[in-house]
Amino acid sequence: MEKTFAIIKPDAFAAGSAGKIIARIYAEGFKIVGIKKLYMSKVEAEGFYYVHKERPFFGELTDFMSSGPCIVMALEAEGAIKKWRDLMGATNPAEAAEGTMRKEFGTSIGENATHGSDAPETAAFEIPYFFSGLELL
Ligand code: RTP
Ligand code: MG
Repeated sequence: MEKTFAIIKPDAFAAGSAGKIIARIYAEGFKIVGIKKLYMSKVEAEGFYYVHKERPFFGELTDFMSSGPCIVMALEAEGAIKKWRDLMGATNPAEAAEGTMRKEFGTSIGENATHGSDAPETAAFEIPYFFSGLELL
């Protein structure tokens, strides 16, 4: 079974959409192997998104990710990485397909409701960034 890392971002958490997103995660057949609410600091957000540090949106992105509480999760399923990316939809909610999380709960390219690992190496960095082994039992 593959694992991926997911975030219900501060916009969706503040809007009260976490329950609906989690219900959908279960409905699609994922097992939630780790889950917690946290309030990321700016430094923690910068570390998490370090691959984007040269991008023009890095400041905006890390300000947003540290603007309020979020829910981080480790999800398990057959082909979990692609399966969760497909369920999230395109980065820009305006381009996301009907029925996807970003279409339903995102409001702009910056405030797009959810995050998902984009490759096995990314998941291997992201899951232990937020979870200890004990939290994934
Ligand atoms: P994520 O990492 O959050 O799952 O999103 P993603 O793979 O679909 O997109 P990525 O290219 O990794 O970008 C990370 C996040 O940065 C914000 N972004 N803003 N203003 C912009 O042009 C812009 N482009 C990207 C988005 O919130 C995106 O999710
Ligand atoms: Mg990404």
